[in-house]
Amino acid sequence: MARSIIIDCDPGVDDAIALLLALAHPTELNILGITTVAGNVPLHYTSQNALKICALANANTPVYAGCPRPMVRPLETAANIHGATGLQGTELPEPQQPLMVQHAVAFLIDTLQQTQEPITLATLGPLTNLAVALIQAPAIATKIDHIIAMGGAITHGNMTPAAEFNIYVDPHAAQVVFKAGIPIKLITLDTTHHVLTTAEHLTHLRQLNTAVGNAAADLLAHYGTPDQERYGLPGAPLHDPCVIAYLLQPDLFTFKPTYTTVDTTSPDNIGRTVIDWWGRTGKAPNVDIAASVNTPDLYALLIKSLAIL
Ligand code: RIB
Ligand code: CA
Repeated sequence: MARSIIIDCDPGVDDAIALLLALAHPTELNILGITTVAGNVPLHYTSQNALKICALANANTPVYAGCPRPMVRPLETAANIHGATGLQGTELPEPQQPLMVQHAVAFLIDTLQQTQEPITLATLGPLTNLAVALIQAPAIATKIDHIIAMGGAITHGNMTPAAEFNIYVDPHAAQVVFKAGIPIKLITLDTTHHVLTTAEHLTHLRQLNTAVGNAAADLLAHYGTPDQERYGLPGAPLHDPCVIAYLLQPDLFTFKPTYTTVDTTSPDNIGRTVIDWWGRTGKAPNVDIAASVNTPDLYALLIKSLAIL
């Protein structure tokens, strides 16, 4: 039976690959909607990019535009990595459908209020949309069976020394979501930095010899260069597809229950996920943090999936 999910994202190249991975599995993942948020690039581009990825996958999954800025902080984008429009390095098809008229937050609330079955939230960007929905209609928390999120860091940040981008952009939203009492699995940079898109993986994508495989390889090649140079890695970390890979093949990952909060105040640490890995606080766990990943099998799943589209 397909799992009903909503994907909240800020495409962004890794979000785009994650969307393609999800769209390749309609029998396992019933995508009720894609909601977009400002993050890697401004909302206009994240929304148009989501529509373009749906067109590339020949999917008519509804796309709902959400919040154009974080709850409190001014928007800081990651255009330095994703480029001005968020998807550089390849020609993508034009959108085949318009954005839905309903705001993403209203879609989240209406869908969760009306659903007869629990829904899984897959979040790939700043958590603004989900946090605003939870503030506006707290009872929807009981309808979310799981949040699988990419974000945070046990150790080093990638936006500041302390903070990972998704949490840094909207730390207040992350705090709201982490304290909502919803089962959460968080895949942090400490795990995604073991999922590296090497030249070999790019070759395997190109060997598919399909529009999707070539577009994915082009996008990843263009996006990966800054990260590869910055981190001195054999490939760029592939963050967001980890969330969808978990939904498709949970045994690719292991997790550890932890008490996790977000620093929303200190100038140097704002957006830091304060993860009690060793249980020093004695406080009840609220977030399961990814502890390991089977990288070879994850890429095998990704390549096999993109070959389907
Ligand atoms: O830190 C990585 C995360 O920030 C990914 O979701 C990437 O798309 C950006 O949103
Ligand atoms: Ca993202």
